[in-house]
Order: sequence, then C-alpha cells, then structure tokens
Amino acid sequence: MRKIIQKLDEKRAVARLGGGQTRIDAQHGKGKLTARERIDILFDEDSFEEWDMFVEHRCEDFDMGEARVPGDGVVTGYGTINGRPMFVYSQDFTVFGGSLSESHAKKILKVMEKAVQVGAPVIGINDSGGARIQEGVASLAGYAEVFLQNVLASGVVPQISMVMGPCAGGAVYSPAITDFIFMVKDTSYMFVTGPDVVKAVTHETVTQEQLGGAMTHAGKSGVADGAFENDVEALVQLRRFMDFLPLSNKEKPPVMPSADPPDREDFSLDTLIPDSPNKPYDMKELIQKILDEGDFFEIGEHFAKNMIVGFGRMEGQTVGVVANQPMVLAGCLDIDSSRKAARFVRFCDCFNIPIITFVDVPGFLPGTNQEYNGIIKHGAKLLFAFAEATVPKVTVITRKAYGGAYDVMSSKHIRGDVNFAWPTAEIAVMGARGAVEIIFRQDIGDAEKIAERTKDYEARFANPFRAAALGFIDDVIMPHATRGRICRSLAMLKSKDIKNPWKKHDNIPL
Ligand code: HXC
Repeated sequence: MRKIIQKLDEKRAVARLGGGQTRIDAQHGKGKLTARERIDILFDEDSFEEWDMFVEHRCEDFDMGEARVPGDGVVTGYGTINGRPMFVYSQDFTVFGGSLSESHAKKILKVMEKAVQVGAPVIGINDSGGARIQEGVASLAGYAEVFLQNVLASGVVPQISMVMGPCAGGAVYSPAITDFIFMVKDTSYMFVTGPDVVKAVTHETVTQEQLGGAMTHAGKSGVADGAFENDVEALVQLRRFMDFLPLSNKEKPPVMPSADPPDREDFSLDTLIPDSPNKPYDMKELIQKILDEGDFFEIGEHFAKNMIVGFGRMEGQTVGVVANQPMVLAGCLDIDSSRKAARFVRFCDCFNIPIITFVDVPGFLPGTNQEYNGIIKHGAKLLFAFAEATVPKVTVITRKAYGGAYDVMSSKHIRGDVNFAWPTAEIAVMGARGAVEIIFRQDIGDAEKIAERTKDYEARFANPFRAAALGFIDDVIMPHATRGRICRSLAMLKSKDIKNPWKKHDNIPL
C-alpha cells in the first residue's frame, strides 16, 4: 500500500515538473512565471484543487506517441480568491509551448462547463504557441469548442483572460469573447497574423511588441483592458479586481466592509469646476473623492482617455463608474469612447452592478474621420447599452450636457433612476456661442451684439434649472454632498426590479 501511495507522489512530481527544469529555467529567463507559479499567486494559499493532472494527448503522428507529458500543457482546476471560488486554466509553455491539443482543449472545457453549472468565474491564463501543430484539425476543433463554451458562458459567469505569453492566430478569439483581457508588458502579445505574414502581405515591418504587445492593445486597439509590469503585479491586481465582481449573474456583487462614512462631505469639490467653461479639470479627482476610500480600479486606462470607466465601491457595494474626461478631447463622445463605455455598461448590467455616471460632455466629436468610420452606429452602442440596462443607474451632471450626448449619458429619458446636477451644470442643445450664431446668423459680423446675445442665452440655458423644472433632473445638489446623495440613492435602489420585454436577444448595433 505504501509503495502504491509513493508511486502517486512520484507521478505527481513528474506532472508538476511539466516540460522539465531546463524549459522552466528558460521560462524564468524570459521574465515569466510558470503555469503553476501563477496559480500559486492567484489563489489563496493551499486552496487550489487540480483536475486532470494525468491527462495526456492521444496523437501518434510525428513520433508524438513517445512524447507524452502528464497534464498536456495546461493546469486546470479551481481555488479561492479571498475565500470565493473561481475556476482557472493556466497554459504551461514548458510543455509543447503550451500549444492546444484535443486533450488540452477538453481539460479547459471541463472547468468552463463546471464553472457555469456552479456559478463561478473562469480565469484563463494564456501562454501558448497556438494550435498543436502535430494534431492538425483536431486542435482546431478543440479551439472551436472552447469558443462555443466562451459564448455560452458569456453573461452567466465573469470570464477573465490573462494574456501572459504568446496568443496568436485564431487562438486570440477565446480571450476576445471573454469579459476582460489583461496583458503583461514585454512578455505577452496577441495578433491574428504575426510580423512575418504582415511583412509578406502588406510589406510593413513591425516587431511582435509593436504589432500586438501589451501597450499596443491597451493603448491603440483597446483589445486589452489593462497592461501590467510583470506577472506578479498582474496576478496581484487580478486578485484585487475579482473582489469587485459577483460570482455569477444570479448573485449581487460582494459587499466589503468600509470605514468610509457614506455621508462624508468633500468641500474641495465645490471648487472643482473652473470659472471658464472651456477650461478642463480632472474627472478622476471627482471619482476618487466620491468612492469608498478613493479605491478605483480603472478599466482601459490607456485607451479612449476621453471616457473613464472602472469599478469602485459605495458603502462597500461594488459600483461601475462611467465618466466623461474633460481633460481629453474636451470629454467629447467619439467612436472609441462610445465602444469602451458601451461594453462596460453591458458588463455591469449582466452582473447586477449599479452604474454611476458623471457627465461633462460637449457633444459628439465632429469630423469626416468619425463619420466615415461610423460614429452613428458606435455612438448608438452606448445609447443602447444605457437604455437597456436594468441595474440601478445614478447620474450626476457636473458641467456640460449638450445635445444628443446629454440623452446618451444615462439621462432620465433612457431610464436613469436618479439624475442629479451640480449648480454648475449646463443642460442645453449646444453651447451658448454656437446656439447664438445659429439663431442670430444675421448678427455674426457684430461682435458686440453676439456677445450680448451669448450672455443672454447663457443666463437662460447654461444652468440645470430648465431641466430641473421639467423633472429631468431630480435635484440640483451641492458638489460637496455628492457622495452622500449617491449613497442614499443606491440604498433606495437596492430592491429595484424592472424587466425588459421578452425577446430571444436584442439586436444592438454592432
Ligand atoms: C507544437 C509547439 C508549438 C505549436 C511551440 N511549440 N509552438 N509545439 N505546436 N503550435 C514548441 C516548440 O516546438 C518548442 O518545443 C517549444 O514549444 C517552445 O517553442 P520555441 O519556439 O522554442 O519558443 P519561443 O522561441 O519562445 O517561440 C514561441 C513561439 C514559437 C513564437 C510561439 O514557438 C512559434 O512560432 N510557434 C508556432 C506558432 C504557430 O505557428 N502556431 C500555430 C498557429 S495557428 P521544444 O521541444 O523545442 O521545447 C493557430 C490556429 C489556431 O494557432 C486556430 C484557432 C481557430
């Protein structure tokens, strides 16, 4: 008996060594951790339960029969993050370059299916050379089955992709379907076709990093939601991130104890808005001053910076924050910012996370570039996302809320539950100067007259009281009292229960 038990230990030790010490050293040499080391950081100590440690591939071609490694290049199972269950698959680059075989795919599918059944998130750690070349179409089938499972799990349990090495070709489409993608600077990349193919087809010369590195996707394409310095930082931040999320769509997000009083006043907010309407200010300052302990987990920090989105807490309860950033493009809505915020709003709505929207928007960004690239459809995504969302929605207009952008940014008219404005708010069809130049076109040559009329227009419309008189704004509030007013609103909205009409699914303008 003892001998048999010893054999199990030996078998486990072999499996734990993956592709062997030399390849582990090579992995470390690239600045990357191994699949198992990553899981050790991700999960609470001793909480990881591994499955399928002894699964091997079934390929016989190209002498693969003699090259079987227990686990087959992916470590799978479940564990806890701060006591809450999560499933994981972590590709092991030391085994056939983490490439995906039929068996490797089946292991991933097993944890994904169980995650949906029990209602727990799936974290996928990607570090792979792609399809197992020796297996051919069986590997492609495996990918497709993973894609299908990603789609079925979408909106049921949170799915997070950590890209911590290569992720190329069709393999990118699993992370692409998941809710969030985080990457690691200098050691991870994602692209549909690599630099060699790009060179052959378009004659462009690019490095892997330029084509699909972490900052390329976090800053240029918006494919990645964050870029971290190294594996350890990425995994520690992921633990922090998961604390904001519910385990599934059947749950509310967790409530964390908070020492920050809900009615905390912040008088510095009374002077946040500059005297000149054209002067920017940092919307992040407001966000940080409102949230519990100033704790804000920003999503897509480097992409479409004219829109800020991310998670925080109010009275310990997770909230999603959507906010225009006047410091970039004056806070205008454009294609990228609309897409970024729309996807975020839909995530919050899927997973019962209330949304707080801070508005300072002069309108949609004008120009042929925006029109030719479809700002009409992309802007509609954000409008659609806010309108269909049934989670509690609290909106605060700090300054400008002009034109169609006013309607889009979680206005009362698209089911904003509680809509506040600061006394500095200007809710109007457009800015005073632009309005006067249209209404009084005949006076354009007369600077004095235009100035006078602009002043008059401002006095009439550059304030929140017209909208408040119509009930479109529930109250005009003191900036210093904003946190308390939002907390009370969210407490009142806790039992909100509305349903959209039955449908198979909607047809959001993709
Ligand atoms: C089998 C693979 C592999 C793969 C790497 N390896 N990729 N084995 N199938 N796809 C093996 C290598 O043979 C090597 O084995 C070990 O993994 C490490 O690879 P290296 O090349 O030494 O590592 P590195 O220099 O870091 O380069 C990493 C890499 C490169 C850039 C990922 O390995 C590479 O280009 N691999 C091929 C990528 C590829 O073309 N994949 C198929 C794409 S098509 P040893 O024994 O020497 O350690 C695809 C379609 C998916 O993925 C479609 C889904 C719909």
